[in-house]
Amino acid sequence: MPHEKILVLDFGGQYNQLIARRVRDHSVYAEIKSYDTPLEQIKAEGYKGIIFTGGPNSVYDESSPHYDPEILSIGVPVLGICYGCQLMAWMRKGEVSSCTKSEYGKIEIEVKAESKLFKGVSEKNIVWMSHTDYISRAPEGFRVTAASADCPCAAMENEAEGLYAVQFHPEVTHSEYGNVILKNFLYEVCGCKGDWVMDNFIETTVAKLREQIGGKRVVLGLSGGVDSSVAAGLLSRAVGSQLTCVFVDQGLMRKDEGDFVEKTFTSLFDMRFVRVNCQKEFVSKLKGVTDPEQKRKIIGTEFYKVFWDKIREEAGDGFFAQGTIYPDRIESGKGDAATIKTHHNQVKMPEDIKFDGVIEPLGDLFKDEVRRVGEKLGIPKELVWRQPFPGPGLGVRIIGEITEEKIKILQEADAVFRDEIKNSGIEQELSQFFAVLPDVRTVGVMGDHRTYDHLIAIRAVTTDDFMTADWAKIPYDVLARISNRLCNEVEHVNRVVYDITSKPPGTVEWE
Ligand code: XMP
Repeated sequence: MPHEKILVLDFGGQYNQLIARRVRDHSVYAEIKSYDTPLEQIKAEGYKGIIFTGGPNSVYDESSPHYDPEILSIGVPVLGICYGCQLMAWMRKGEVSSCTKSEYGKIEIEVKAESKLFKGVSEKNIVWMSHTDYISRAPEGFRVTAASADCPCAAMENEAEGLYAVQFHPEVTHSEYGNVILKNFLYEVCGCKGDWVMDNFIETTVAKLREQIGGKRVVLGLSGGVDSSVAAGLLSRAVGSQLTCVFVDQGLMRKDEGDFVEKTFTSLFDMRFVRVNCQKEFVSKLKGVTDPEQKRKIIGTEFYKVFWDKIREEAGDGFFAQGTIYPDRIESGKGDAATIKTHHNQVKMPEDIKFDGVIEPLGDLFKDEVRRVGEKLGIPKELVWRQPFPGPGLGVRIIGEITEEKIKILQEADAVFRDEIKNSGIEQELSQFFAVLPDVRTVGVMGDHRTYDHLIAIRAVTTDDFMTADWAKIPYDVLARISNRLCNEVEHVNRVVYDITSKPPGTVEWE
C-alpha cells in the first residue's frame, strides 16, 4: 500500500528542507515540490495535506511566486507558513500590508481561540518570526487564532475547509511549540496515522530492488562515505552477491580507513568487493604541484578516470547504483539552477558506458534518515556517523607538494588527534576535527638534540550547516595531552598549533 504523503510546496524560503524533515520526524513522508508544479499533478498524487513554505518576497510583487487559488478548494488540508500564510490570505481576498515594525527573531504570541492546531500549546508561547509584511485583515470565513504585540494575525484558520496559516516558523527549534503545532496539523487536521518508519522503508525498498533487479547484476561506486555505504548495505540485503562494489582508494584517506571499509563490507555483507589501490599513481601525478586548485583538479580528474575505467570493465547487462540522497535531487522553488548542490554522486557517466538503468535506493531520504537506515542494517557506527570528509581527502590537508612521506605523517598525526578526542569524551560536541600538515618546518629540541621537523596544525569546529563555523573551545588540558602525544608518538613532528579561526573568514579546510 502506498504510504501517506504530505506535499511541501516550495515558494523559495530558506527553511523548506527543514519543514520536510520535521514532518518526517513525525513519521509522515513529506516531499518538496516547486510552486510551478501543475495543480493536476498535485491532485493526482493523493496528498494527505499540503504545506505552503515561506518565501523571500511580498505577495504583491509581480515577480514573487504565486499559485492557482483552486488549490485551497481541492479538499486537501493546507497549512501556510510565513509567506505561505500571506499567500493564503491573498488568495482568499484578505488584506496583506507592510509592517510598520518588522518582526524578526523570538516573539511572544498569544493563542486567542480554541484550535486543533494549538492543541496542547500554552496560551502564551515563544515563536520564531521573520517577516516584513503581515495580514492586516483575515479573509472572509477565517478566524484569527493567535496574535503578537505587533502582528494582529499571527495565525488564522478556516476549520471547515481545513485551511490553516501561521505567520511564524513552526519548523525551527526556536519556536517553543513548533513541533507540537506541526504534529497537530499532521495528525489532528490531516488525519495521518504515521506510517513512515525506517523498518518499513528497509522492507519495502528491499522488495522493490529485488523486483527491479531480478537476476541481473548491480554495480555501485563505494567511497566509504555514509551515503554510498548505506546504499551498499541496502543493495546487499536485497540481492547479495549480484552486487559488485567498486572502491577506489587513492591513498588519501585517513589511517587504515581503506582497510576498514574493505573489512566491513567483505565480512559483514554478501557482495563482490573490488578495491583499486592507486596511491603511487596519484602521488606521481601530483609531483611538484603546490597550487590548491590545481591539486583539487588533478585529484578529481584522476579519481574519475580510474573509477570510470573500472566501472567500464564491470558495465553491461545490469544496473549502475549510486548513493544519491534527497537533498541532492531537490531543486529550489526559485528554479535557480545555481542553488542545486553539485555532488560527486551526480557526476555524469561517460556516454560509452552502458547499463540497463540507474538505481538510487536512497533518493528519497534525508541524511539523518540515511543514518537511521544504516544503523538498522548493522553498518558500523564509524561509517554511519562518519564526519564529512572532503572528496580530495588528505590532499587538501597537506599544504604544498604531496609526497608519500607527508601522507604517512599526516595519517599518523590525525589518528593520534582523533584518538585523544575520543578518550577525552568530547567527540560528540565537535562537528568536525582533523589534523593538517602545513608546509612548515621548525626548530625544536628533543633530548639533547636539535631537531628541524614538521609542524602539525589541529582544527576542530562546531557548526550546524558548515556554511559558517566556530572554532571549538577544546579544554586546555585536552589540548596539552594532544600536543604531547603528537610530538612523542608521531615521527617527524616537533611542534603543534591550534587553529582558532572561525568561518568566515577562514574555511573549515585549509585548502
Ligand atoms: P570548507 O572548507 O569549504 O568546508 O569550509 C565545508 C565542509 O565541506 C567539506 N569539504 C568538501 N566536501 N568535497 C566534499 O565532499 C570537497 O571537495 C570538499 N571540500 C571541503 C569540508 O570538510 C567541510 O565539512
